[in-house]
Amino acid sequence: MAILEIRKYPARVLRQKSLPVTTFDPRLQTLIDNMIETMYEAPGVGLAAPQVGELKRLVVIDISSREGRSPLLVLVNPVIASREGEVEFEEGCLSLPEYTVTIKRAEKVVVKALDRDGKPIEIEGVNLLAIALQHEIDHLDGILLIDRISPIKREFFKKRYKKIRKLNT
Ligand code: NI
Repeated sequence: MAILEIRKYPARVLRQKSLPVTTFDPRLQTLIDNMIETMYEAPGVGLAAPQVGELKRLVVIDISSREGRSPLLVLVNPVIASREGEVEFEEGCLSLPEYTVTIKRAEKVVVKALDRDGKPIEIEGVNLLAIALQHEIDHLDGILLIDRISPIKREFFKKRYKKIRKLNT
């Protein structure tokens, strides 16, 4: 297994639409294992393939460090089948280091996907799991946290982020 490089904003790959996975070959299995290792090492509660430079509709999620009794999820070609309610949550993203912002999302979602072997699965998530599912699936369409905030907050982010980048280089 290997730790992959997490692409940071404003990397272009984060803004592109990912393509459905059609083959469940050893290369996909290796990518999945590397993404899991990269997520745990970061550490993060979720990671989407475009964040490691792969435009594939694939995400891994494990919220157990924040909320117990939740399994590691590997979701291929995930689709949100239904949403319910509304909840506000302070979110961060491994591609936007040192930035968190409160986002409004559905409180409960049902996601249909394939597992790592191509078998259909259905996941129901509430609260943090629902947030993680929506956040990671957003990545597959090139959508980041900063697309879900007000224009004023986005301007503030841009100014702040420039400063953070300067400090880190
Ligand atoms: Ni993210």
